[in-house]
Amino acid sequence: MIPHSRPAFGPSFRDKVVQVTKSGHVAMGDEALALEQNIARRVQKERAVAVDSGTSAITLALRALSRKESGSRVGIPAYTCSSVLYAVLAAECEPVCMDCGEDLRLIPEQAMKQAASLDTVIIVHPFGMVEPMAVEAWPCPVIEDIAQAAGAELNGRPVGSFGDVTVTSFYATKPWGGVYGGMVASDDHAFCEVIKAMRDPDGAVQLQDYAGHHQLSDLHAGMANVRLESAGNEQSAREALAHVMDGWFDTGEVAPVAGIHQGNRYRYLIRTAGEAESFINRLMHHGVTAARTVTTPISRLLGVDVPGAEKAWLDVVSLPMLADISESELEQLREAVESCIS
Ligand SMILES: Cc1ncc(COP(=O)(O)O)c(C=O)c1O
Repeated sequence: MIPHSRPAFGPSFRDKVVQVTKSGHVAMGDEALALEQNIARRVQKERAVAVDSGTSAITLALRALSRKESGSRVGIPAYTCSSVLYAVLAAECEPVCMDCGEDLRLIPEQAMKQAASLDTVIIVHPFGMVEPMAVEAWPCPVIEDIAQAAGAELNGRPVGSFGDVTVTSFYATKPWGGVYGGMVASDDHAFCEVIKAMRDPDGAVQLQDYAGHHQLSDLHAGMANVRLESAGNEQSAREALAHVMDGWFDTGEVAPVAGIHQGNRYRYLIRTAGEAESFINRLMHHGVTAARTVTTPISRLLGVDVPGAEKAWLDVVSLPMLADISESELEQLREAVESCIS
């Protein structure tokens, strides 16, 4: 079977694990500090604070933004990873679903109308593509989530440099993935100090609204630091693969999800005119693991009717996007896709 994703952990990852364990310090330390500096530089923010997951990064950012105000209204894309929803709920905020268009990006007029009554908006660059609304002047603070699009650019600037707060994930299959982990970045030093205090209950010198063990271990940070060294090459390999795959589709009903900003090519998405499930099953018979981009849209989880997200769920299939795909795998993938299209 060709897997849907395949993070590769070569000798440099093993060397890093040995180096960190030999140092006798595996909890948060120099590796986490180096990762913070690395990410702050990459997203052009003054400070970054390492945490234990991308979900925690969002929750802590929301808690820091809406201190003491439980029930803050937070805009989130209806068609994105459910971790975003659970992060909002964990921060005791109220999620407000924002719909997507055919290209899976937000619908600008609709989103801006909703923004008028929001306390915070989470802009997610969806599935490695770039969300152009990241550059808009929103009437509320913006958390920019680059978990899937890390490394992509918009208007010559890295994603993650636009929001008031940037969050990302170092989960293994993510573009900057190590094992587990996350990051909150911002130019606001006081805000970053609040995040730091919240991730370390043992360090608290006074009673806080919230604190929990959310530090990132040096073992996990070290793995992410190693991944960052090859992230650019992996992105180039994915871009080359996407270019080849673009040639497999003509103007038929099944077509790649298009858009002006393709981002870091983390995922290769196609629309199937309501056939997502059967398309995935047919690919499976050809030895190809494809997947829905989200298991269940957030709007479905919340029981609200959001038509663009619902349509995306019925239509969209994510094909394997492997930076290290072999020639025989590529041929198998091409044959499988062409046979399913016809
Ligand atoms: C867009 C997005 N944000 C946040 C997260 C949460 O990251 P983590 O898995 O590290 O908690 C994910 C992960 O699935 C994600 O896709």
